[in-house]
Amino acid sequence: MRKYHIITYGCQMNEHDSENIAGLLEAMGYEHADDPYKADVTVINTCSVRDNADKRFFGTLGQFKKIKKSRPDFVLCVCGCMPQQPRVVEEINKRFSWVDIVFGTQNIAEFPALLEERLKTGRRMRAIVDNNPDNSEADMKPVRMHRHKALVNITYGCNNFCTYCIVPYTRGREKSRMLSDVCDEIKRLAADGVVEVMLLGQNVDSYRDAAGNSFADLIKAVNEIDGIERIRFMTSHPKDISDEMIDCFRTCDKLCHNIHLPVQSGSDRILKRMNRHYDRESYLKIVEKLRKTAPDITISTDVIVGFPGETDEDFEQTLDIARKVEYDSAFTFIYSPREGTPAAKFEDQVPDEVCHERFDRLVDVMNEISLKKNQEYKGKTYEVIAEGISRNDDKVISGRTDGFKLVNFTSDRSPEQLMGRKVKVEITESKTFSLEGREVD
Ligand code: SAH
Ligand code: SF4
Ligand code: F3S
Repeated sequence: MRKYHIITYGCQMNEHDSENIAGLLEAMGYEHADDPYKADVTVINTCSVRDNADKRFFGTLGQFKKIKKSRPDFVLCVCGCMPQQPRVVEEINKRFSWVDIVFGTQNIAEFPALLEERLKTGRRMRAIVDNNPDNSEADMKPVRMHRHKALVNITYGCNNFCTYCIVPYTRGREKSRMLSDVCDEIKRLAADGVVEVMLLGQNVDSYRDAAGNSFADLIKAVNEIDGIERIRFMTSHPKDISDEMIDCFRTCDKLCHNIHLPVQSGSDRILKRMNRHYDRESYLKIVEKLRKTAPDITISTDVIVGFPGETDEDFEQTLDIARKVEYDSAFTFIYSPREGTPAAKFEDQVPDEVCHERFDRLVDVMNEISLKKNQEYKGKTYEVIAEGISRNDDKVISGRTDGFKLVNFTSDRSPEQLMGRKVKVEITESKTFSLEGREVD
């Protein structure tokens, strides 16, 4: 049997693309290999959101040069967000011309044909388009990472052009899938044992399909699908979230009380320069509405520090909003200039040491809040869906609460009896990034 391996960087869109690519390879008769260096075909699915992602990619590529030399039949493929940028394809062709196949984020369906052609002719294949009108996933049979939960695309691309962000250039213009297609896919997933779906889009709140359905309509429709127990979504944009959507937290029993609501900055001046189209006040209003509708809702966020022109006062505003909202968790990033984005050309770039100092302060504040929030869980009992076995201890099961808290717990039952099931867990210990507990009757 010929073997494949996929290395995935980046966000959940990329993870799901990799699931689809794995499905295409398995349909061609390939079998998964654990070792990327021993496979017959290895695919690197790349991310370009920050500079360290870029660096990691070129480092990884370099490592494959030896393999390619010793095994000329080995096929190395590169896809994802990096090759959507002409400068990257140029660099691959110049410095890593031995890479066999390069394809874009919107050329995934063509991958089997590219691979066949490469195997038949030995030619190097390159296929990258910017705006593929056909986003049908009807032919995709993803190999899921998890048996019981699934990633489901609802929109592709992004139209928001936040001034720091490369994504609109690597994923093309925003397109929404038809509500009926999304629901058909989720029905098939439910029939295959999936109990939890994560609806994916760069800005799910701007979902609008050709029949006029909104994101709230979509949630309501998914809520009716038998077998599905939990609905999550990612990512919400504060400028587009609607009252009707927020009300779904009250009316849709399967919608998890958890939201990822990137704030990026707490300073109105910086938010404006980021082209985010909301301000502190409107952001805080949304948080208030969410908590009023679903008092137990957990909220996570993304924050960028050191955006061009960010002053100490701007940064203090970010710390202030973090303390006001009291995020359950946060992804914090140091601003990374991306070639081709407007902010990369702003003149007032913030010096590295200032960025690092602010970053450390922000992380301390965020962690302190996370720990405080998690401590409220101690002694209480939550429903957790079991997802896996702890890496450090095979007697410990891991899972998530409705609010997406990671829980490591013990149980008298075997992992097989628990996976994909709702388990009642009493929390015995709270840490900054996880909870510990034991199953109770
Ligand atoms: N569509 C999502 C985010 C996708 S990228 C949204 O709008 O929220 C994930 C996160 O990476 C962003 O929320 C942002 O915080 C961060 N990010 C994006 N570009 C960045 C850059 N150039 N430098 C640092 N962080 C960045
Ligand atoms: Fe990037 Fe902004 Fe689009 Fe998110 S909404 S992907 S941060 S441009
Ligand atoms: Fe990275 Fe592309 Fe996702 S740049 S974050 S893999 S959309």
